[in-house]
Amino acid sequence: MRKRIFSGAQPTGQLHIGNYLGALKNWVALQDEYESFYCIVNLHAITLPQDPATLRQKTRDLARIYLAAGIDPEKSTVFVQSDVAEHTELTWVLACVSRLGELERMTQFKDKGKGNRERSSSGLLMYPVLMAADILLYQTDLVPVGQDQKQHLELTRDLAERFNRDFGETFKIPEPFIPKAGANIKSLQDPAKKMSKSDENVAGSIFLLDDADTVTKKIKRAVTDSGTDIEFDETRPAITNLLTIFQLLTGKSNDECEQHFEGKGYGHFKTELAETVVEFLKPFQERMKEYDDAALDSILKAGAEKARSIAGETLADVYRKMGIA
Ligand code: TYM
Repeated sequence: MRKRIFSGAQPTGQLHIGNYLGALKNWVALQDEYESFYCIVNLHAITLPQDPATLRQKTRDLARIYLAAGIDPEKSTVFVQSDVAEHTELTWVLACVSRLGELERMTQFKDKGKGNRERSSSGLLMYPVLMAADILLYQTDLVPVGQDQKQHLELTRDLAERFNRDFGETFKIPEPFIPKAGANIKSLQDPAKKMSKSDENVAGSIFLLDDADTVTKKIKRAVTDSGTDIEFDETRPAITNLLTIFQLLTGKSNDECEQHFEGKGYGHFKTELAETVVEFLKPFQERMKEYDDAALDSILKAGAEKARSIAGETLADVYRKMGIA
């Protein structure tokens, strides 16, 4: 039996190159080796207020982005979270296994709730429990994600271990897959912050649907550090971030990148980086148009059916072990 992967992204805001380099690129690379499940997590999206029509549209757009990124529906299962009711059912069970204290300690709860506990939805508090349910339903071996999801993976493992201890062996304990390079792409405007869908300053993010002009302007305006060398250097996070994007899109090693730009200035580097990003985005955006509505519907329907068949088995086992069914 092939090992399993589960991962997902929220259909909120606009997907950026950080989401691609930190997650989607690896999903594509791993789909040949693993039995893969890639989910559009619309139930996570509603932990913050969403406009219904926009959410519906973005859910479909995100499915198209997965496919355009190279996820092959013949190899991988692509589906929408709300189409598989087992995700919410297992969330309730795991909510009863989780502790308020550990959920309140999650950094995403504090960040997204802007520290205002009184006004945060309880859904936001439950966010990582829903994520644990996503993963554990599929007896997942590996979860490819960016750095910001590491704490959620740790909670997922804790909940699985606790359940297994109390009710008997039920869940596989999943491992995170966080790439060495690209797991934490920074804002182009502030290398101390991650590139983020929810950043109000759009100049900090290269969106996957940005046109060539916008990309070029954003890269030209990207902040740089003091010094002139184009090198990977932890003490110069801005240039290191830009070089990381270049390196991951070209497939060159760190040394090759540094040699390539030896003796060249920032102007030259930024021009070449902008060209590289534009060259990557052009065919990507073309591929977004390849799937009409009917084709997309049928991929998502087949995906949900496959997902349901596996999720249903796990949930039945959970209920049996707990004396519910
Ligand atoms: P989301 O939608 O915020 O992001 C999707 C993926 O992109 C990664 N990512 C980044 N990687 C590198 N640099 C960045 N600046 C950057 N920003 C985001 C994220 O780490 C993520 O891998 N909770 C998840 C969605 C989710 C999920 C799951 C993931 C729900 N259930 C089960 C894995 C397994 C989230 O909000 O991702």
